[in-house]
Amino acid sequence: MKKWFAVIGDPIAHSKSPFMHNTWFQELGIDATYIPIHVKSEDLQKAVSSLKLLGASGWNVTVPHKEGIIPFLDELDPLAEKMGAVNTVVRQHDGTLKGYNTDGAGFVNALEETVGKDNRTKKVLLVGAGGASRGIAFAMQQYGYEDISIANRTVSKAEAIIDELGEGTALSLEEAEKQLDKYGIIIQATSLGLSTGENKLPLSLNGIQEGTIVADIVYNPLMTPFLTEAEKRGATIVTGLGMFVHQGAIAFNHWLGEYPNAEKMMDKLMKQLK
Ligand code: ATR
Repeated sequence: MKKWFAVIGDPIAHSKSPFMHNTWFQELGIDATYIPIHVKSEDLQKAVSSLKLLGASGWNVTVPHKEGIIPFLDELDPLAEKMGAVNTVVRQHDGTLKGYNTDGAGFVNALEETVGKDNRTKKVLLVGAGGASRGIAFAMQQYGYEDISIANRTVSKAEAIIDELGEGTALSLEEAEKQLDKYGIIIQATSLGLSTGENKLPLSLNGIQEGTIVADIVYNPLMTPFLTEAEKRGATIVTGLGMFVHQGAIAFNHWLGEYPNAEKMMDKLMKQLK
């Protein structure tokens, strides 16, 4: 029987996930379809029951439901539990629902696809301390990145994540700015840089060394102000598109047991975004 999958969120119309997953189904000859569903927060519980009743094999969860969906699931993957957020739901063979979070691991897979795995001993600076940053911090720790610092406008939020990690350093944006040359990997994980957001940087990149790896979680626009500035200073750039594609690829793998072609998908989406 044809399988079906979905992404639920509010708003949802702009999502590239349906294009991505439907393309992968086609490429791999899988008889399945993937649809976007607009779900408001007050309807979340009803939406989950409906997805279950109507036999969805799994779905993605996006803003603003990543935390709110947790009470409606039967089981959580340990990383999702630690992060307190779910972006992927799998309907298991016995009909129960298990939640995963593939955002952080998606980021690390994308980073390592671009710059390799030999950077795990480099000092990492995560800029921002919201949900996205938390996910990346936990995933990087799990992958063996040894030295993680988090800088945030509100330092107490960075401190809270560092406490949970059990290692690392929390600092202000100003403190980070003064010692940018210490970091081998700098990740922009604030909500600045979105096409609809303000067009400014969370911190000045004056102090970075040439060859520093600089990544952004935002993929629309592909070249954020942060990446444009970093590139001018000779940094190696990692756009947010890879994180998006790999979070989807890991979800796909949870559902169907195979890892789809992420590189080819990057090319297709890059053409759409340019
Ligand atoms: P997400 O879940 O996408 O990470 P979030 O939880 O709202 O979103 O977090 C947004 C992040 O962007 C936070 O780190 C926020 O800093 P604060 O914790 O101090 O609010 C950061 N951010 C948003 N606007 C910012 C700005 N104008 N300057 C610096 N940081 C900003």
